[in-house]
Amino acid sequence: MNDPIYETVITSVATDGRVHVAPMGVRYAGERVVLMPFKPSTTLDNVVASGHAVLNIVTDTRVFAGCVTGRRAWPTLAAECIAGQRLACALSHVELELVEHSDDAVRPVLRLARVHAVTHAPFMGLNRAQAAVVEGAVLISRLHMLPMEKIETEMNYLQIAIDKTAEATEHEAWAWLREAVAAYRAKARSR
Ligand SMILES: Cc1cc2nc3c(=O)[nH]c(=O)nc-3n(C[C@H](O)[C@H](O)[C@H](O)COP(=O)(O)O)c2cc1C
Repeated sequence: MNDPIYETVITSVATDGRVHVAPMGVRYAGERVVLMPFKPSTTLDNVVASGHAVLNIVTDTRVFAGCVTGRRAWPTLAAECIAGQRLACALSHVELELVEHSDDAVRPVLRLARVHAVTHAPFMGLNRAQAAVVEGAVLISRLHMLPMEKIETEMNYLQIAIDKTAEATEHEAWAWLREAVAAYRAKARSR
């Protein structure tokens, strides 16, 4: 059986104050939140340097699709108890402190303690189009590793949920993902 992985957005701050926004799967191990960023990772560098991160629960899936298509400038607000930033659109956020860093050549493990948690808006339930955008964003983040045929087949399947249940935000997010596939295909052809 797999440990459940929850798709969240991690905000971190570099030593020069720059805010970084990245979708990341997290695991919950008792009191700890476990992050496993693949190297190289700005999130990894920022969390190790600052000792802090913010976990954001987000249903505006434009953040997921945007981050994997070069749109990372999502509005943030100051965290309440750590020197960090949380997403302005987060339904809830958890402020985290790094307690253990197990380094690895490929995928280090960061264990973080919850310092403070705040709910800003209710979670309205699962939505298929939002799930489809998150799945699509995962595919786009692996464009360079997966065969184009698999990407096309899976995007076409996910399109069904978009057509049936998407609102304007998911249509916008989905269009960014489709554009990214088209641009990648055009670049591959011109090589
Ligand atoms: C839903 C979703 C989950 C992801 N989970 C992870 C993860 O657990 N670890 C990781 O390294 N990248 C993950 N990615 C890819 C990162 O968001 C992306 O590669 C990002 O740029 C990470 O590197 P960074 O810290 O340099 O921004 C995920 C992407 C998506 C769309």
